[in-house]
Amino acid sequence: MTDPAPLQTLTIRRPDDWHLHLRDGAMLKAVLPETARHFARAIVMPNLVPPVVTAAQAGGYHARITEALPEGMSFTPLMTLYLTEDTDPADLRHAYESGLVTAVKLYPAGATTNSASGVRDFDKVRAVLETMAEIGCPLCVHGEVTTHDVDIFDREAVFIETVLEPIRRATPGLKVTMEHITTSDAVAYVTGADGAIGATITTHHLMIDRNHILVGGIKPHYYCLPVAKRRTHMEALRRIAASGHPRVFLGTDSAPHLDHDKESACGCAGIFSATNTMACLAQVFEEEGALDKLEAFASLNGPAHYGLPPNEDRITLVRHAAPVRFPAKVATATGPVTVFDPGRPVYWSVA
Ligand code: DOR
Ligand code: ZN
Repeated sequence: MTDPAPLQTLTIRRPDDWHLHLRDGAMLKAVLPETARHFARAIVMPNLVPPVVTAAQAGGYHARITEALPEGMSFTPLMTLYLTEDTDPADLRHAYESGLVTAVKLYPAGATTNSASGVRDFDKVRAVLETMAEIGCPLCVHGEVTTHDVDIFDREAVFIETVLEPIRRATPGLKVTMEHITTSDAVAYVTGADGAIGATITTHHLMIDRNHILVGGIKPHYYCLPVAKRRTHMEALRRIAASGHPRVFLGTDSAPHLDHDKESACGCAGIFSATNTMACLAQVFEEEGALDKLEAFASLNGPAHYGLPPNEDRITLVRHAAPVRFPAKVATATGPVTVFDPGRPVYWSVA
């Protein structure tokens, strides 16, 4: 995996992952070290079954994550609550003000994996959103409409216009993270909007477009939500990430599913990239001639958006003369999980 004479090294502040799925039980135990190896902190998604809705559930999940962390590794899970139409504003206020949770997650009902408890009627969460604006708690948004009349490739753009902009207009002061953006429409919206807004981009959406999923046979391990769009959108994401724009930062959306759940007649959405994300990102930023912006994207802009200090320690990325080989799978007690295949040589690794 390493060669004796690295061609180049790049030392950056230790990165954070501002959107991560860790799951629970055997899966949590298997995937947590993959993230903790490189990342100091991560915003942990609450879409368990049942979802993490209350402060008490978030406290329990936090304890299980801490418990699953191997001896000698350090990692801070930043907890989130899953917004439902029954979320109690007082419970949320307590969870946020006590430091137990960092953000609240909005899934439109039916948008993705385990989102059945999400929001159908946005009027029913008005009081919660107003409380969040008052206390400064950020809203993380899965930005896709779910109505069947909207084409899956248009769901993000339609969400911005019909849901996100109205929510933000009705709730001044609400800090929003638009997660895993996949379109030039989202790039334009986030970079042009007034007020507190940021966006995360995944590693895979910087490396794949919809052809990767569909050309030459259907590739379930490239299927995620929001689904990868046409190449021009990927190029817009790469340009904004490589520019170091302060509103744009890394959220891997690394989302493990067992292989048999992906390789199925109705395969689950999710790409597992925790293992090789930092190496892949170095490859992307090198291709964009923007290695000097990788630290902003992975380690600085996210903490600034969330009002947290950047990490003090550093990681070093190493550029090799030959492509690096990463494990194809991570084993769990219940079966293997396939690691994201960037579909091109990657010459970087984390030292
Ligand atoms: O591809 C995805 N997988 N997108 C999501 O929004 C959820 C995630 C998961 O939990 O598997
Ligand atoms: Zn996600």
